[in-house]
Amino acid sequence: MNRDAIGVFDSGLGGLTCVRELGRILPHENIIYFGDTARIPYGTRSRETVLRYAKEDIAFLRRHPVKMIVAACGTVSSMLGLNSPVDDIPFTGVVYPAAAAACNLTKNGRVGVIGTPATIRSASYETAVHTINESVDVTVMACPLFVHLVEYGYTDRNNAITRLAAEEYLAPIRSAGVDTLIMGCTHYPIIRDIIADVMGEGVTLISAGEEAAKFAKRCLEQQDLLTDSEEPGHNVYYVSDSVSMFRENARHFLEDAARGQVFSSRL
Ligand code: DGL
Repeated sequence: MNRDAIGVFDSGLGGLTCVRELGRILPHENIIYFGDTARIPYGTRSRETVLRYAKEDIAFLRRHPVKMIVAACGTVSSMLGLNSPVDDIPFTGVVYPAAAAACNLTKNGRVGVIGTPATIRSASYETAVHTINESVDVTVMACPLFVHLVEYGYTDRNNAITRLAAEEYLAPIRSAGVDTLIMGCTHYPIIRDIIADVMGEGVTLISAGEEAAKFAKRCLEQQDLLTDSEEPGHNVYYVSDSVSMFRENARHFLEDAARGQVFSSRL
């Protein structure tokens, strides 16, 4: 049993897809979130830069009492591969949990992956899927505009610009006949409705952030680190840029990130 918080980080809003799921499946846990909004996007940067940013994000979270770290960022998870950046507390990224869910869910053995340019270049999801099941066929596509559209709040189901971008990016994935699509960047589930509309019925969407949250729960259970508190968990959010911009955009997505405690913090 351990009452410390779960530390979650991302370059911006995307990691909230993981926080929301953690709140649903572990309602008594406290969460400390860090969104590196001053340096977003990560997905267009080099491996060295992303790893340096990740190290600083983790150092920030570790100034607080945290019992586990979740890199709720497909790009950071992809750059790390199988390496854990911490050795004294549990850690997970999003790639392996999402790949495992996809291998479990696909019926026709064809899986799509969408992610940031750095994630797609790294081939992290193909590697993870093929480690689990080498006969699964994987089609990938980088969708660089999605992160910006989400961060600027172009998230409404009827948003014409986001829909157009989705149609363009998802066409090759649709042609490949996938029945399962990994949203391999944690920002993408924020425009899930649009992605679902474009992919059409019969395609199961997997949120990498949600799968990481489920994986984190299993990890904490196995290591006997869940809280014994019966009070509702308390979330605190830190961002490296403007609090008001984060609140405004989080509003569309996660109520307590919009209303709760949000602080601006230097790394
Ligand atoms: N949400 C992130 C990811 O999952 C990063 C997006 C970005 O900063 O480019 O890849």
